[in-house]
Order: sequence, then structure tokens, then C-alpha cells
Amino acid sequence: LTIRASSYADELVKTAKTIASPGRGILAMDESNATCGKRLDSIGLENTEANRQAYRTLLVSAPGLGEYISGAILFEETLYQSTTEGKKMVDVLVEQKIVPGIKVDKGLVPLPGSNNESWCQGLDGLSSRTAAYYQQGARFAKWRTVVSIPNGPSALAVKEAAWGLARYAAISQDSGLVPIVEPEILLDGEHGIDRTFEVAQKVWAEVFFYLAENNVLFEGILLKPSMVTPGAECKDKATPQQVADYTLKLLHRRIPPAVPGIMFLSGGQSEVEATLNLNAMNQSPNPWHVSFSYARALQNTCLKTWGGRPENVKAAQDALLTRAKANSLAQLGKYTG
Ligand code: 13P
Repeated sequence: LTIRASSYADELVKTAKTIASPGRGILAMDESNATCGKRLDSIGLENTEANRQAYRTLLVSAPGLGEYISGAILFEETLYQSTTEGKKMVDVLVEQKIVPGIKVDKGLVPLPGSNNESWCQGLDGLSSRTAAYYQQGARFAKWRTVVSIPNGPSALAVKEAAWGLARYAAISQDSGLVPIVEPEILLDGEHGIDRTFEVAQKVWAEVFFYLAENNVLFEGILLKPSMVTPGAECKDKATPQQVADYTLKLLHRRIPPAVPGIMFLSGGQSEVEATLNLNAMNQSPNPWHVSFSYARALQNTCLKTWGGRPENVKAAQDALLTRAKANSLAQLGKYTG
């Protein structure tokens, strides 16, 4: 029995390496229209295509962004959209030396037979969508599924999350897109850091088991995990050093060094917390590129500073660049605050 390798194998390895390059990480700007609506609502703006376009134009055209950002994850609307100046968003990113990526999952729905848990949709028709996204200029993909600690997680929910990620990863690689594998372990809950460690250990094991079973090329994926932290409502807080110790211990136990990049999500951490934790993880050499793929921890201040006003665009871009630079330094273990 011979397994056919993706005809894109060399390109996948190259793309993954480019995204995982020193001092750079990913800008997640792939909020679905519903989530983007919540962000716009927080600054008193209506969720119209024009407002989403204005905000995303601001992000992709921040001058010099590519020094700190190697990849940007887009929602489908943005992949096909032009900036307010009429240039393709994708072309602006490429000019900034930022690889365009695309969110390909179709979101979470209740998982029947579980403890009020969810599963992630989007495998039906995925190969024709990934082929079209490649044509449109995307070179990597993202699929986010979640596991809840307070609701279990049940063995069923973990297995479904892992299997879905593995099928998506194989399909993406077959279309030339580097899959970001994102099993998010939600922050919600009162549990301590040891419980998060235990759950993540199980989840990461299953994810890599099914990735291997689906003959996914490990050199051509990126992992986007949650950091190992206490639950958001836990009384005991963790220091960046503790988060780094737990998270690195788990990476060493579970993640093959063939995986080129570990691009953490921020998951509701504050902007500074997310930077400090990343910096702590990069104080000693490790086999991977340990970096960031943040949405909220890159965008929160930027969005607030903009407030929907054209006269604030420059200040908002500066706020984005400040966070991007801080996380770039943290990727190098050189952030000093
Ligand atoms: P946060 O960094 O805001 O958690 O978002 C990252 C992301 O892309 C979640 O899928």
C-alpha cells in the first residue's frame, strides 16, 4: 500500500517555514460576520460590509506590518474584498510580505449525545472551497474547534474535535494550503492549571494520533493551541513563568519537532498578558518556532483607538504596530515591557 503524498508537499513546507520565521507571527483577523459585528458594536458601529471593509483596510495597510507579521488569517468576505482604495486586500498583504490565510471552518454547533458540548462544521464541500481559496491567493488555512473543561470534556467531544481537525488538515494540504490546527481549550472555568494540563495532554495526544492516521505532512502544518493556564474564574492566578513551564513541558511531551510553528491563540488574555507569556516561553531554545496567532490581543486597543473615525486611522495603526512589535520581541524572548 502506498500513500500518495500531496503534490504540493515542497510548497507546504516552504509556506509553513515562511510563516514561522524569526520575530514574526500571525494576525488573526478572520472574525466571522457575527463576531465582527460584536466587535464593531463595542465601538458603536453598525455591522455593515462597508464598516468591516474600512476596519480591515486599516489593519492590512498598517505601514511596515510585515516586519512583525508573517501571515494574516482572513474571513471569506475579506479574501474576495478590496480595500477602501480599491486594491485587493490579498495584494496589499503580499506587498507587505504577509502570507494570506483563510478561515475554512463553518463554526460550532451543539454536539448531540454530549454534555452540552460542541463540534465544528465545514468538511462537506471543503476540497472545492480550499481549491478556490488557493486560486484566490490564500496559502494557509485555519480550522478552530473548541473543548470545554467545565462541560467535561467528554471522550466523544475530544475524539470528534481531533478527527475533524485531522480530516481538514489532510484536505487543506491536498489543495496546497498549510493547515493551522487549532484545538482551543476554552479558558472558561474555575479549574486550576493542573486540570488544564491534564485535559490538554489528552487533546493534543488525540489530535496528533489522528493527524498521523490521516497521513498529514507534519512539516507542512502549524499548531495553534491554547497556552496552559488556570481557568479564567480560578482564584489562583499563574505567573508568566508558570504558564511557560507548564506549556513547554506539554509541548515537549506531545508535539513532534517536525512541526515548524506553534502559533498560540490569546483566548481572552489581556494584550500584555499574552505578550509576557509568549516572552517567558522564549527564554530558552526549543525545537519549534514558538509564536503568536492573536486576534483580540493584537486588535483590542487598535479597534478602540479607531472608534470608526477616519481621523483616528493612523493612531489605530500605531496601536496595532505597538502590539505586533511587542509580540515580535516576545517571539525572540527579548520583550522588556
Ligand atoms: P484570540 O487570539 O482572540 O483568541 O483569537 C485567535 C483566533 O483566531 C481564535 O480562533
